[in-house]
Amino acid sequence: MDPSSLDDYRAHGGYTALRRAFTLGPADVIREVTDAGLVGRGGAAFPTGRKWQATASQPDHPHYLVCNADESEPGTFKDRVLMEGDPYALVEAMTIAAYAVGAHHGYLYLRGEYPRALRTLEHAIAQARARGLLGENILGHGFAFDIEIRRGAGAYICGEETALFNSIEGYRGEPRSKPPFPVEKGLFGKPTAANNVETLVNVLPVLTMGAAAYAAIGTPKSTGPKLFCVSGAVARPGLYELPFGATLGELLDLAGLPDNLRAILLGGAAGGFVRPDELDIPLTFEGTREAGTTLGSGVVLAVDDSVPLPRLLLRVAEFFRDESCGQCVPCRVGTVRQEEALHRIADRTGAAAADDIALLRDIGQAMRDASICGLGQTAWNAVESAIDRLGAYE
Ligand code: NAI
Ligand code: SF4
Repeated sequence: MDPSSLDDYRAHGGYTALRRAFTLGPADVIREVTDAGLVGRGGAAFPTGRKWQATASQPDHPHYLVCNADESEPGTFKDRVLMEGDPYALVEAMTIAAYAVGAHHGYLYLRGEYPRALRTLEHAIAQARARGLLGENILGHGFAFDIEIRRGAGAYICGEETALFNSIEGYRGEPRSKPPFPVEKGLFGKPTAANNVETLVNVLPVLTMGAAAYAAIGTPKSTGPKLFCVSGAVARPGLYELPFGATLGELLDLAGLPDNLRAILLGGAAGGFVRPDELDIPLTFEGTREAGTTLGSGVVLAVDDSVPLPRLLLRVAEFFRDESCGQCVPCRVGTVRQEEALHRIADRTGAAAADDIALLRDIGQAMRDASICGLGQTAWNAVESAIDRLGAYE
């Protein structure tokens, strides 16, 4: 499909879902999304229907819709591909979401390092406006909605939804404490539905296929299709779409596994490593959780034995130290101490003293237990899994 052509999008079935949404009405749109079992694809798998229902039912007004397109997890690029290749799908899906939650203004918070996605989306939004698909009276249905793009400036933390709100409002990109959740007090202190790009785009098949047909794809707890970002030591890196429930091995067979596979990082820097003998892990939120790891936003990074693990872990630790917003002590200090310990180990060419490992565990637990947001809470995941599952420093 030509991503610059609204006509091409319509010729491929574009705007069928919005028409169905207008026929159903907001409450039934939310019911369909709930019955379809759609869960958030940003990484946390929160039920989308529940989020929309909670936003729609708030007495305070106005309500806002925010599309979180600040995709920054290392190894994640699915939202970029969606936005560059199918921008009208996101515009249509945001319109449906806004209709469902009673929002008339939507913000699309786009990662600053995505200039092509910016151009594609700006064009799509302008075309949709010119053709009555955004604005005061969409499709002559009396519903008013428009989208404003805001660009990030390179901070990973601004993908955390409440830091993102602060960024839009003109404040420092620092997370707020939750609760209250955004559905109650979000952007500008008003009820806000914040959804990831891939989550929103999945609303289109939910409405065109119907909830039951959508829910029949995948597993009962992880329904529908999922995009996986495969990178690293594979023959064919790229974006793969599979139904939830396919195994890690099935995905990596498609991408072409190397003979000397050492580990797979699932879920990005905030995720964890698994071993080459764990390829039967099902790619679902519940399956990865049961296996003691995480699916996150769908990162699958293959590492072969040419990669020195201590260097890789040091790189992950540097990343978290650099991206910590510094607001709370456990993360601000913990990410620095974690990196220092890993430097000491790397300086000894990867051999860890017992007290380094004990210190890393102490710091990691403090960050997990006491940090305000997901960044600090997950900053030790990759290192911990490398120690416990891969024996990285033995
Ligand atoms: P979270 O579990 O705190 O929240 C998930 C979503 O559900 C949020 O929108 C939150 O507002 C909502 N929510 C949770 N409980 C709620 C309640 N009781 N009522 C109403 N709404 C509720 O997780 P968080 O911190 O938003 O996201 C963490 C995930 O983000 C991780 O799994 C990580 O993998 C992923 N991540 C993704 C990145 C990317 O580039 N895609 C970057 C960094 C992290
Ligand atoms: Fe900032 Fe880290 Fe605290 Fe999150 S955990 S608020 S990134 S200092």
